[in-house]
Amino acid sequence: MGLSRPGLWLKRLWVFLQVAMHVAVGKVFLILFPERVKQQVLAMNQKNPHFSYDNWLPTFYGMQYFWFVLKVRWQRLEDRTEPGGLAPNCPVVQLSGQRCNIWDFMQGNRPLVLNFGSCTPSFLFKFDQFKRLVEDFCSTADFLIIYIEEAHASDGWAFKNNVNIRTHRNLQDRLQAARLLLDRTPRCPVVVDTMENESNWRYAALPERLYVLREGRILYKGKSGPWNYHPEEVRAVLEKLHS
Ligand SMILES: *[C@@H]1O[C@H](CO)[C@@H](O)[C@H](O)[C@H]1NC(C)=O
Repeated sequence: MGLSRPGLWLKRLWVFLQVAMHVAVGKVFLILFPERVKQQVLAMNQKNPHFSYDNWLPTFYGMQYFWFVLKVRWQRLEDRTEPGGLAPNCPVVQLSGQRCNIWDFMQGNRPLVLNFGSCTPSFLFKFDQFKRLVEDFCSTADFLIIYIEEAHASDGWAFKNNVNIRTHRNLQDRLQAARLLLDRTPRCPVVVDTMENESNWRYAALPERLYVLREGRILYKGKSGPWNYHPEEVRAVLEKLHS
């Protein structure tokens, strides 16, 4: 993404230093207190069994981890969304290859739920929960899955138990990855972000995030995954709308 605000690069530099510090301190901590780190990871494991100790730990505070956290933190500097604000109408591509925009999926004053993600452990772990949401509310709300860049590509910050998908080099790669979701019968349209990753950046979507839009505005902005990605919060928002 280009320099769109004065001082953006200065902010990026500041974030870069913060992340470098975080990784350096983490690495030292890991070497000095391996048992404490293990206990922490095991506690996280209880929230989401897909983050098992063996999968996580070898990847902690490494180079790929550093680049990933940096990307997420830089992305947040360019987040264009706030509750009540206008929802960015970014271009997306349907699995047929046809281009359209996010707003095209909004119908009248029906809420539109956006589910951003890729084949990450937490996105797939909560996929059934999301599907139940679609089933329960399809008469009053619309749903759209936006497949973004691979958060845990096999040539990036990969875990042992990841679906084996390389970083998308072109739109075909991304469409192919998104088609894997069809095996899970999503029951709502699936589109992909363009290779400029505009939806991902404007909505600060990485690694996964949920939104509810209504009449072009943001009604609910979920927090980002893996720990704060909660389809049940969307359920509460939709229930409130129809009570
Ligand atoms: C968007 O993300 C892909 C990785 O999925 C990357 O290859 C591509 O360079 C990114 N595009 C831009 C403009 O940064």
